[in-house]
Amino acid sequence: MNADENDTKANNNTENNTSIKTNAGNLKALTATKMLRERARQHVEEGAVTTGYAADKEAVIGLLNDALATELVCVLRYKRHYFMAKGIYSESVKGEFLQHAKEEMAHADRIAKRITELGGEPNFSPDGLSSRSHAEYRPGDSLVSMIKEDLIAERIAIESYREFITYLGNDDPTTQRMIKEILAMEEEHADDMSSLLDGMRIKTD
Ligand SMILES: [Fe+2]
Ligand SMILES: [Fe+2]
Repeated sequence: MNADENDTKANNNTENNTSIKTNAGNLKALTATKMLRERARQHVEEGAVTTGYAADKEAVIGLLNDALATELVCVLRYKRHYFMAKGIYSESVKGEFLQHAKEEMAHADRIAKRITELGGEPNFSPDGLSSRSHAEYRPGDSLVSMIKEDLIAERIAIESYREFITYLGNDDPTTQRMIKEILAMEEEHADDMSSLLDGMRIKTD
């Protein structure tokens, strides 16, 4: 008996022993687990995507690339605002801009990683970046206009992520969970910008 046959026999013994110890319900669960494992093995070249993946993978990758572009545009806009913010009220606002830029970059990274898990390629090309993005790149020429532009961009991102979550339904729970977590942060960002805007109005009125 060669080494492979020995391995096969050992596996069969383990499975038989496990089967004997389980009741009918558990055996069914074991069979299901075995089937899941076999299916995962058959499609190992597809990476994290298994045959149980119910969504339209290409469409999801496309939507994720749009979300990636949105996040990258948000990074660039917040960075510009961080470096350009001037005036007596700018110090605390600058800190907020920088924090948001870092968080948008972290979102971009998560989205890019998910695209690769789905077997796609994250599009980091600067060509057409702003047209792929849902949110716009608006430089803003005053502190108030910068905050307003950021609030508008956050609201656009929030809307697009809500639609994305609805589109995914139960077909891709991993992507949906990630987008829900990002959405929660965009809502915080919008709230931050809204509070800053209120604060600026009080100070400048
Ligand atoms: Fe973001
Ligand atoms: Fe944001």
